[in-house]
Amino acid sequence: MGSKNKLRRFRENEAFENVIQPSREELERDQFSLKGKWKQEFFKNDNPIVLELGCGKGEYTIGLSKQDAAKNFIGIDIKGARFWRGAKTAIEGDFKNVAFLRTQIELIDCIFAENEVDEIWITFPDPQIKYKRTKHRLTNTKFLQKYKYILKPEGLVNLKTDSEFMHGYTLGLLHGEGHEIIYAHHDIYKNEYSPKAVTEIQTFYEKQYLNQGKPITYIQFRIK
Ligand SMILES: C[S@@+](CC[C@H](N)C(=O)[O-])C[C@H]1O[C@@H](n2cnc3c(N)ncnc32)[C@H](O)[C@@H]1O
Repeated sequence: MGSKNKLRRFRENEAFENVIQPSREELERDQFSLKGKWKQEFFKNDNPIVLELGCGKGEYTIGLSKQDAAKNFIGIDIKGARFWRGAKTAIEGDFKNVAFLRTQIELIDCIFAENEVDEIWITFPDPQIKYKRTKHRLTNTKFLQKYKYILKPEGLVNLKTDSEFMHGYTLGLLHGEGHEIIYAHHDIYKNEYSPKAVTEIQTFYEKQYLNQGKPITYIQFRIK
């Protein structure tokens, strides 16, 4: 994407009422005004909150919001020019239960209060295979502890990926740390019991992987 196009998207994001871009300073000082108040002050309802971490263009956030109008969905990514697509689709379709948030996922516990979130989706994350990159892997112990803090005790985490490495790493970690694995499959389109939310929504990256004949994996779990 050219820089002119990116700038136009950044400007539009500023004006979109479904896009939130907290400053790093307010997050680091733990002074973000919506923390603990997402339902009352942003969505103005009492419906459950579902997050998509690393949402890219926001296809999962949009797809899930169409499947379940009785929940609030927030797509999170550091790349605003990407989720501009999802934000624009939500505005054009008048989806009131969708928002996009530009931030580092590392700061998630400054954005949501304890027990504020009902469910998390992690869709096609970069597997960060190199040892030096482990700290950026979205299912490492440190991230899981942050998710545990913002999630309700029964809250669910869903990981959908084409990366055998990410699938295996996460399963091993979940077993090792004693978390509850609710569902795990290494090839969701070859399993008739795969949930609809997993097979009926396909992201930009997923379509590329499917064209290459790669299996898509899925794990649903609770952090103990
Ligand atoms: C491989 S893409 C997947 C995008 C989308 N989920 C899909 O399936 O098409 C990973 C996305 O996660 C975002 N991301 C990775 N690490 C992040 C972090 N620590 N904080 C915020 N966004 C992050 C990237 O900007 C990128 O858009």
